[in-house]
Parts: sequence; C-alpha cells; structure tokens
Amino acid sequence: MLVRALGAPVATILIIAVSLLIRFGIGLHPYSGAGLPPRFGDYEAQRHWMEVTVHLPIQDWYTNTTDNNLDYWGLDYPPISAYQSWLYGKAIQRLEPEAIALHTSRGYETPSSKTLMRWSVVASDILVFIPAVLACRHVFFKDATVEQRAWMLFAALLQPAAVLIDHGHFQYNSISLGFAAGAAAVVASGKEVLGSILYCLSLNHKQMSMYYAPAFFAHLLGRCLRRPTLLTQVGAVARLGFVVCATFACIWAPFLVPPSRAIEVLSRLAPLRRGLFEDYVGNFWCATSPLIKWKQLFSQQELVQLCMGATLLTVLPAMAQQIRSPSRKGLLLCMASSAFSFFLFSYQVHEKSILLPLLPVTLLAPDVPALAAWLPAVAAFSMYPLLKKDGLSLAYGALLLFWAAFTLPSQAAPNRTAASGGAQGRGGSMLSYGLPLIFRTSVGLALGIHAAAAVLDPPKRLPFIYDALMTALSFLHFAAAAVYVQLLLWSQDHEKSN
Ligand SMILES: *[C@@H]1O[C@H](CO)[C@@H](O)[C@H](O)[C@H]1NC(C)=O
Repeated sequence: MLVRALGAPVATILIIAVSLLIRFGIGLHPYSGAGLPPRFGDYEAQRHWMEVTVHLPIQDWYTNTTDNNLDYWGLDYPPISAYQSWLYGKAIQRLEPEAIALHTSRGYETPSSKTLMRWSVVASDILVFIPAVLACRHVFFKDATVEQRAWMLFAALLQPAAVLIDHGHFQYNSISLGFAAGAAAVVASGKEVLGSILYCLSLNHKQMSMYYAPAFFAHLLGRCLRRPTLLTQVGAVARLGFVVCATFACIWAPFLVPPSRAIEVLSRLAPLRRGLFEDYVGNFWCATSPLIKWKQLFSQQELVQLCMGATLLTVLPAMAQQIRSPSRKGLLLCMASSAFSFFLFSYQVHEKSILLPLLPVTLLAPDVPALAAWLPAVAAFSMYPLLKKDGLSLAYGALLLFWAAFTLPSQAAPNRTAASGGAQGRGGSMLSYGLPLIFRTSVGLALGIHAAAAVLDPPKRLPFIYDALMTALSFLHFAAAAVYVQLLLWSQDHEKSN
C-alpha cells in the first residue's frame, strides 16, 4: 500500500537508500578478530591481501617468499579476489598508506582505516550486487505488481544474514554473489555467452560459487539440447565451452607460466587440508555428529568420497529437471537446490556458505514469500555462534527485529501470495497457511535457545550445548527448505510461462 502511494521509482530509491544506511550502521559494530592479536580475523586477512597485492609483483601473490609468509593469512581465494584486493588496496594506499604498508601494517586498526575498509564493502554492493539484483528484478519480475517488485528488492538487499556477514563480520560475498545473480539474469534473458562469462567471474572471485555450477551447467546444456539438429547442439555446447576456457585463461594469465605456478595457486584454493566441517554449521555432517562420530568412523579420504557421493546424488534430480526442461525461474530454483546440496552434504562447509542457497531464494521472493521471509532469519540464527564471537550480538538482534517488523505483517496478509498465482504461488500460499503453527514453533524454539543461553550457564560436561542446539534446529529448517525448493522446481514443468 505504502509502496503504491510512493510510486515505483521512489520505492526503489528508498529501499536502496535504507539498505545502504543499514550497511553503514552495521559497519559501526566490531568485525571478526577486532583487537585480537596475533592473527585477528577475516578483516585482517582482507587487509593483509591488500598489503601483499599492492607491494609484491603479481607472480609472488600466491607464493611463499620472505615478503609473503603464507602461514599468515596467505591468499586462498581465486585471482579475481586478488585483483579486487589490489584495486581497493591502491585506493586505501592513497588515503592512509600506513594501513597497508608492507610488513609493518600487521593488525593495523585505526578508526579511519576501519571506515575505509567498511566503505570498500559498501562500494562492492553499489558496483556489483545492487545492479545485479536490479537486473534480476527486470528479467524475472518485469510484469509483477509494484508491491511484489518492491518486496523482491527489499528481500535481496536487506536479508539479515548477508548484511551481517559482509558488513559486520567482514567479507566481500556481495561480489561473487552479485556476479552469480547477474549471470542468472543475463542467461535467463537469452544471452548465454555473456552469462557464462559473468558466472566465471563469480567462480573466480570465490570458489564457493561452485555451489551453483551444476545449475548453470544443467540449464545451459538443456538449452543447447533444444536446438534443432545434433550439429547445432554440439556447436552450441562447444561455443560455451570455448567461452568458459577463454575467460579462465584471461583471468589466470599472470599465473599460468610456468605451469608449476598455476598448480601452486590451485593448491592454495583446495580446502582439503581442513576438516569435515568448521565450527558449528547447520549441515548434515555437523548436525548428526553428536549421534554419529563421522570423524572417528572414517578416514579423511573416505569422508571426502562420502561427501562427494552424497552431494552428487542429491544434486542430480535438480540437474535432470533443468536439462530436461530449462526454464528461467527454474534456473534460480536449481541454483538454490544445488547450493543446498553442497551446503548440506559437501566437505569442509562454513556456516557462511548458507548465503549461497539464500541468494536465489531471496531473488524469487514474490513467488516464495514465506520462504524468502523465513530462511534469511534462520540463516542469521544459524550463524549466531560466529556473530557472537565477533561481538555482533547487538547488530544481529537489531537487524533481525527490523527484518521481522517488515516481513511478518506482509506474511499475515494472504492477498500477496494469492496474487502471484501459478504453481509457485500456490506453493507459497500453502506454506503461508500452514505458517502460524510451524512458524510459532520455530520462532519459539529459536527464542527459547537464545533465552536459555543468555540466563543459564551450559552444563560443565556440555560447554557447547547451545551452539549444538542452534546447529540442529537450523539444520532441520535447511533440510525442509531444500525439499520444498526441490518440489517447487519440479512443479515448474507445468509452468510454461516461466
Ligand atoms: C613460508 O616461509 C616461512 C619462512 O619465510 C616458513 O616459516 C613457513 O613455514 C613457510 N610456509 C609455507 C606454507 O610454506
């Protein structure tokens, strides 16, 4: 109603302005590892990469040298992240050179440098993420109502989990997620070559974007197979294969000679050195570990194979659907489904990886209003152990209240979901009608755990009981959401218009 009164352009500008304001507000809070020598946290890692990339020759960025001790936050993201560090590092060097001085800047923390670092994350949103979300809205919801288009923008830009990780904890997920969203919009509008290039950029910013690879692969293959003759089909596949290889070659050019250097960089990106999961993450392995001692039952080699098998098995149905009948919104649902499979079952998953299934769900907010309102809140909840450690409890509480205040009333009104119509609309409203009971139980349990953790010390024998409970509750939600997304994807077959 308010949106209609304001008019569409004003509503768009207002939502973007509020989302930026909230990003600056969250940025006033601490970041990961603030004031915690000797290694600090993710913030220091990003600052250190600026220091390394600005001062050292490009060939040495991923190499252990006297000027680049890889044991101290060595670069372990692909080249686009390194180029980004160089770019922001150059900008910060002009304004506060001591912040990224070689060797002497370790653990450098001044209020002004913190502000500069925070601004660089907001700049990433403005340059990559927000344009990508607007492109998605244009492609997927061109004919939706003014309210639905406003809700989609609100959900994608203000969902608490992503804002807290990027602008609180400190990371640049908005770049890789933005490229992936942009790729989805561009592919869905029929520009397969440009879309493939954008997806390669996403994958080369954070290897985590691999979670979407089965979706893009299946959707694009499905489209190629729709060409009339075998020759044109093979030609279309070969063309995209060439585009992907050429994009990779350009991005990796400085690291390809000698080949041993490329292998050195690649080995920096492989997470196998670490364990099955890190800290508390709401995935299958961590949630079931109190019952089944995976790490003791199997060797690391066996665990890696088990994870690969489980991930592949659960990702196949969604891929089959998109190969068989590729559709525009099916691509987003397949991205969500595939990312859920990786999050729930793959090896070495971080709690932050939940941002990957979350992105396509929020981009589809008008079609799945209940899920898009609910899942981001659960995702933020699942990351609470991490956020608490970062000193972000206040920011977490405030942002969740803000999110609830805007999303809950709209969920109470059944008109919104009825308006979207079609199979997805029905699915969305089905969830909305079942919402009161499930929703109250879910919120009640979450608040109960928070309240207990606040007033009761954990028993001596189980010091991490609250973190484990949060993990288990989040896992139940994520598993249910994964099944729901899968059902929506298969109901796409009857939805010819999408
Ligand atoms: C890198 O070199 C330093 C000495 O400069 C050494 O202490 C460290 O173990 C090396 N790290 C790796 C990952 O090779």
